[in-house]
Amino acid sequence: MKRQVTLVIDDREVAVPENTTVLEAAERAGIHIPHLCHCPGLESTGACRLCLVEIEGSTRPVVSCRCTVRPGMQVRTQTEALRAIRRFVVELLLSRHPGDCLTCEKSGECLLQRYAYELGANRETFPRRDHDHAAENDDPFIVRDPSLCILCGRCVRVCQKYGAGVLDYARRGLETVVGTPFGKPLAAAGCDFCGSCVETCPTGALLERPRRGQGRVWELEEKAGVCTHCGLGCRVYLDTKKGRIVRTRASAMGGYLCARGRFGWSYLHSPERLTRPLVRKDDRLVPAGWDEALALTAGRLGEIARTYGRGAVGGIVGAMVSSEVVASFCRFIRDGLQGDYVDSILQFAGLPVLGEVVRLLGSDGCATLEDIAEAGVLLVIGDVVDRVPGLWPRIKEALRRGATLIVLDFRQNRVARAANIWLRCRPGTEAALLGQILAWIVRESRCNRQALACTFPDAGFEQVLRAVEAERVDTGVREDAIREAAAALGDPLAKAVIVFAVDGAAPEAGQAALYLASATGRVPGGVFPGAIVPNLRGLFQAGAFAAGDNGIYGNESTLRALYVLGEDPVTTFPHTERVRARLAGLDFLVVQDLFLTPTAALADVVLPATVPVETGGSIVGADGTIREFEPAVPPSAIPTAEVLARLAGRLGVAARNTTCARCAVGRSQGRQPAAAQAPVAENTVYPFLLVPSASPYRIYRDILSEKAGLHVVDPYLGHLRMAPGDAAALGVAPAGGTVTVRTPSAELQVRVVPDDTLPAGVVSLPAFSRQYNTLAGPGQTAVPVAVTVDTREGGDSA
Ligand code: SF4
Ligand code: SF4
Ligand code: SF4
Ligand code: FES
Repeated sequence: MKRQVTLVIDDREVAVPENTTVLEAAERAGIHIPHLCHCPGLESTGACRLCLVEIEGSTRPVVSCRCTVRPGMQVRTQTEALRAIRRFVVELLLSRHPGDCLTCEKSGECLLQRYAYELGANRETFPRRDHDHAAENDDPFIVRDPSLCILCGRCVRVCQKYGAGVLDYARRGLETVVGTPFGKPLAAAGCDFCGSCVETCPTGALLERPRRGQGRVWELEEKAGVCTHCGLGCRVYLDTKKGRIVRTRASAMGGYLCARGRFGWSYLHSPERLTRPLVRKDDRLVPAGWDEALALTAGRLGEIARTYGRGAVGGIVGAMVSSEVVASFCRFIRDGLQGDYVDSILQFAGLPVLGEVVRLLGSDGCATLEDIAEAGVLLVIGDVVDRVPGLWPRIKEALRRGATLIVLDFRQNRVARAANIWLRCRPGTEAALLGQILAWIVRESRCNRQALACTFPDAGFEQVLRAVEAERVDTGVREDAIREAAAALGDPLAKAVIVFAVDGAAPEAGQAALYLASATGRVPGGVFPGAIVPNLRGLFQAGAFAAGDNGIYGNESTLRALYVLGEDPVTTFPHTERVRARLAGLDFLVVQDLFLTPTAALADVVLPATVPVETGGSIVGADGTIREFEPAVPPSAIPTAEVLARLAGRLGVAARNTTCARCAVGRSQGRQPAAAQAPVAENTVYPFLLVPSASPYRIYRDILSEKAGLHVVDPYLGHLRMAPGDAAALGVAPAGGTVTVRTPSAELQVRVVPDDTLPAGVVSLPAFSRQYNTLAGPGQTAVPVAVTVDTREGGDSA
């Protein structure tokens, strides 16, 4: 615990923890010291000199953002002399600042404008020296106007801390500007579009492009919300005007949002969003009233359930639906319509691993983001950071504090490049490699066998270990690297956290990661299971995953009618064509969604859906944290919960809506882990290995990414990633070209994008995409494929 220090600021006694700065101490006491370059959470540089204060015993004013408190310190923050210095500083800045306040979007919240007014600064005190820098208008989400920049450096520091580190000072003296290397557009410079720089900029020099012309700050209404674009559920402030989201901000200064959370909301206001029902007439979907659509839906579902009995009606529910609505939906199908089959993406997003996470770690046994930031040893498995971009700032924070970062992934992405130990295994051998690390820890007697026996009483840990020892799978990783990683993880004094994606490309590795965590005494508290799919645990708790063959994949299925809510299985489920044919052959299909998706296009009735940000509710990420939130914008259609209630009413079944997150937790069903990961054998006919990949710019449902415009900054969306050497050998590098990708049962024409993070022989398509699912079947995470050059141009057709 930190020692308290008492000092006096403007005649007020203030007690703060030691090492607090005078500026922070004053803020805590409610005394505002003007400041421009200081930003909470970022290191202070003392660049602007506005925060000067007088300290008794000091001959000159002192920069309060860099001066730490001392016991008995006497501080004055508001003297006439200080006001004169601050006015001088602001007037100097104004001499280079255009007087565009009438049209500047930041008017009303610009700190320079605020201090100019409060200090009575005069724009004409110093001769004008206008910038000749033009606004940088080439980026999709951010507009930069260097003429409004006051060189406070906040954006540079926040970009280093949270972003891609692409911003820096360039040129010298009066010519100094903040920009990217060689003045490239942000996208070309490698910007993440996290928008942290925009949020921290005190002037109009950096601005969210979508915000322009949408509302001045005093017109905006701030709503606290939760980002539902991955399982992390970051807290977010949604600034709205007339029911539309104008901009987003991280929940606290120093907080972080990734591109999806910052700029990924505009699908909500897309003109293509469904706002009224459609019914099929003469084989066409035509607009209909709610009464007609609900009567038809209830009538047909009821009739089919009565005629064919249990199991004739089923449901599929989406992962961007709140837990409360998931629970209501499951009850509606199971109790109201005797439906045995209720499924979701969870089936293909690491269900067995999630079952183990729930069994072993319960609702509060996972590591937190703070645990990650404070870890001494971090093991990051697979592309979890692309799936959950909010992990990256915490990993960077751990590195800054001196953590050892071990990365187990075949991709040489930014996380691997930052690693102290990079275990670049062959795709499909992740679980085997973790087993080898565990075997070393056991051999060296660093293993807590008792903990293992408690955590895995039935799972046959000893057999697994013997199998690992006997098989000696060639993972492609050198023995000394494995030893080094094992020694770091096996150190009982180190605070170690293992981070993996439940829905990652190698879900079996999650099981092995849990073994490893348990063996080293890190269960609970030393595992963070992330997921790009948002509400995995909400789906799990409601039991929204299929059992047996009675579903859209089962050969013996009795399913005749299906209600699909908030999901597009034709796109996101494996075996696209099989799913499409099965859905097209049903007696009745009702789809409730935001857009006319490929699944909705097959439906007999299409109902508009609402999203949690419009209705409130909760989601539960893979780590078990319940994120509850209020509605932020009005619903564009009848709320989904009410639609279910109306249907239940028409069918004469009790409408049991669940309104509380904790009551929604109902039908949790653990599953035993999947079979051990089998390395994919080399194959001369299908010599490439196809794996699914995530992207920080892509919500798991492509249609939402596209409607939000995120695809503009995602170079890989819908394309085949391939190592540049392989692309060159095929003659499709450097610009890319169209290739045909084949498995024994399917083929796809698709454009190639060279990707230097991939090793030779590995190709990748976006996870949960139509392209990947055209080629992959259920449970396939590494598919042998042949890739040949297609002379037809304009590819991408399944
Ligand atoms: S958006 Fe993020 S990564 Fe891009 S320049 Fe700003 S802070 Fe850096
Ligand atoms: S762009 Fe904004 S945050 Fe960056 S240095 Fe200029 S004024 Fe400061
Ligand atoms: S990390 Fe996940 S929850 Fe956080 S802003 Fe990004 S997509 Fe949203
Ligand atoms: S805020 Fe202290 S020098 Fe800028």
